Amino acid sequence: MDINDWRRLLIPYEQAVEELKVKFNGIREEYIRLEEYSPIEYVTGRVKKISSILEKAKRKGIAIEDIEERIEDIAGIRIICQFVKDIDKVVHLIRNRDGKDLKILEERDYIKNIKPSGYRSYHIIIKYPIQTSKGEKEVLTEIQIRTLAMNFWATIEHSLRYKYNKDMPDYIHQRLLNAAEAAFTLDKEMSEIRQEVLKAQEQFEARTNMIAEIFTNIQNLSKINEIKEAGKLYKKFWELWEEGDMEKLEEFNKKLDIMAEVYGAQRLR
Ligand code: GTP
Ligand code: MG
Repeated sequence: MDINDWRRLLIPYEQAVEELKVKFNGIREEYIRLEEYSPIEYVTGRVKKISSILEKAKRKGIAIEDIEERIEDIAGIRIICQFVKDIDKVVHLIRNRDGKDLKILEERDYIKNIKPSGYRSYHIIIKYPIQTSKGEKEVLTEIQIRTLAMNFWATIEHSLRYKYNKDMPDYIHQRLLNAAEAAFTLDKEMSEIRQEVLKAQEQFEARTNMIAEIFTNIQNLSKINEIKEAGKLYKKFWELWEEGDMEKLEEFNKKLDIMAEVYGAQRLR
């Protein structure tokens, strides 16, 4: 294979990487425009270097003719998420496209099944169709989905592994395992904090909605029957509010609902 053969071989992979980056970035943009939380933090992609393809083929005993069928990561996409839970969401987004603009060949869950090195990530191998001047061509692409912490660890580990080749000193290996554990703990800790924040936000929202309902109810009641009680009701509300007991406020709101129904029914008679 001369350099032109390589170029010809790699062009579809370059196109696949470019298209998939646009598509996953598009999903992120959509969430952001809707002011919703995006499970995708950022997307990167690369086409494997010729030297790395040759190295991998040699390491795995793959003949040059079989490279395209047997090396799955000539095209590689990496989707980085903030939280471990986001990975599930991204996996579902991709599964929903299976049989549409891509085909899923295999999923490898290195988050449930952590590699002996300490590596964690979710991998999906897909077949992606590219339109070329000579018609359609399907190329294999590896999508790696991981959190920021998983990515941090994998990036450092990769460069150390590369530096030491096969002879990584034992103590470095051990420290990398410790670091993997620390990254795992960081992910768990962040998830828990996130849960707390979401819960607090929900409670805050529920409270805001209930207070708004109470005010609307009192206002409606005073309109329906021109009741002089409105002032009393406001006073009662303030008492309960000062007390700060949400359950009592909830009950009070229910009573207002019932009163509204009763007065409303009387008025209709
Ligand atoms: P290679 O590991 O690439 O030979 O492919 P494989 O057929 O063994 O597939 P695997 O799913 O194990 O790995 C695919 C890719 O995941 C690799 O090319 C790396 O990018 C990444 N990966 C897998 N294991 C590790 C690891 O221990 N450390 C790091 N940093 N990356 C890993
Ligand atoms: Mg491997």
